[in-house]
Amino acid sequence: MKTPNMIDAKKRHHNKIEYTKYNKDIAKFGNGKKFFVRTYGCQMNEHDSEKIRGMLLSAGFIPADDILDADIIILNTCAIRENAHDKVFGFLGVLKHMKQSKDLLVGICGCMAQEEVVIKDILNKYKQVDFVCGTHNLDNLLSIIKEQIDTKKRQIEVLSYEGDIVEDIPVLRDSPYSAWVDIIYGCDKFCTYCIVPYTRGMQRSRRHEEIVSEVEELVKKGYKEVTLLGQNVNAYGKDLYSDYTLANLLSDVADTGIERLRFVTSHPWDFTDEMVDIIAKRDNIMPYIHLPLQSGSNKILKLMNRRYTKEEYLKLYNQIREKVKDSSITTDIIVGFPGETEEDFEETLSVVNECKFDGAFTFAYSPRENTPAARMEDAILEEVKMDRLHRLNEIINKYSNEANQRLLNKTVKCLVTSLSDKDKNKVCGYTENMKLVNIVGDKSLIGKIVNVKITDAKSFSLDGEYIK
Ligand code: 5AD
Ligand code: SF4
Repeated sequence: MKTPNMIDAKKRHHNKIEYTKYNKDIAKFGNGKKFFVRTYGCQMNEHDSEKIRGMLLSAGFIPADDILDADIIILNTCAIRENAHDKVFGFLGVLKHMKQSKDLLVGICGCMAQEEVVIKDILNKYKQVDFVCGTHNLDNLLSIIKEQIDTKKRQIEVLSYEGDIVEDIPVLRDSPYSAWVDIIYGCDKFCTYCIVPYTRGMQRSRRHEEIVSEVEELVKKGYKEVTLLGQNVNAYGKDLYSDYTLANLLSDVADTGIERLRFVTSHPWDFTDEMVDIIAKRDNIMPYIHLPLQSGSNKILKLMNRRYTKEEYLKLYNQIREKVKDSSITTDIIVGFPGETEEDFEETLSVVNECKFDGAFTFAYSPRENTPAARMEDAILEEVKMDRLHRLNEIINKYSNEANQRLLNKTVKCLVTSLSDKDKNKVCGYTENMKLVNIVGDKSLIGKIVNVKITDAKSFSLDGEYIK
């Protein structure tokens, strides 16, 4: 058993990163048993779940269409806010009941696995968990499961260290049109509210040759869209001590001929002029940028250790708006950070009014154990946080709606990704600048990039008609 340790998780010695290959020599012990993987949290987790499914498939397990049919259920968890924890612990209650009526293995992966407090709870209270595999040794998942099956003993294997890079992990992708591709793991920013630098380890970049060749393979397979992933993609290459940056990577990946290239998440601190210029210049780099603001008050930004001021954020924001044609910019904002006064919050509102974001993910601050902000004084009352969140959301929704209204009667290109959940005569797709469109059309459009005339605009989606 190896359990996590937050002190080790925080260390950064910037040792040379080990690049290794996935060890494919694992017995086919799945024997047709069915698996179900449930994902919580961000796109990085979505992609890790594709790796979990890929590894299970390679060992002879098969996907279950319904969770009730599964013989093995893995929860790929998120630790970013308390409610992410609550959802997982709540669901473990449901799984406890399921285990009473059938043979079922339950496993935990992802960021929660990296938390000391969570592992203590699992050891003491959640006996229904059969195995835990941390984020740093995900490539070892099959050995952990096999050991559990062979010994019938609970396996907890979590490492708290800076992390390596393992290439060639099998992937079972969710979509045949749009793919996630990791470019950088971990984070060294240590924003004071954030648990990610502890759960995901040191910032470390994949080699650009590996990334480009992965995208070349995807193009050959007919993929239309690739999204480059990282907690902070703009820091790409910094740990490799070369001059090769995200700007170079975007240019090289765009050269593969992939029709749509995206990237998330950006950090304003590392966003250079060259990056803005390459996004503006290349037609297949999509004009959509997720640029977290977090707060509009310089005092709070400093307490958050965000490394930029409101003025610097606005300068970058305006530069992107000016240079990147028809761009859309979304953001993340936290309200109720310790010490946030009404005036600080109003400064956030004033930045929102100035930027008129296309959309935003807004959050009430949630203290994360062992992060610096959790030790700060002047906690904000829950009802004050909720009131601010509500006021912020009203303004955010107003601007999302306005941004969508600007597309009314325009013809835009959409990558159609699926049938509409609500209406069988419609399909769903995304515009170049990442707006969701419900399109009148049939399933033959799925997987294609088509012209769509926008006929109606709401706060969170658009309606449109396929134009031949
Ligand atoms: N409380 C609330 N929101 C948080 N985020 C990260 N940590 C916390 C926290 N402790 C938000 C940030 C980040 C997004 C992914 O989640 O806005 O950008
Ligand atoms: Fe967390 Fe800040 Fe790193 Fe984003 S940049 S993952 S908010 S520490």
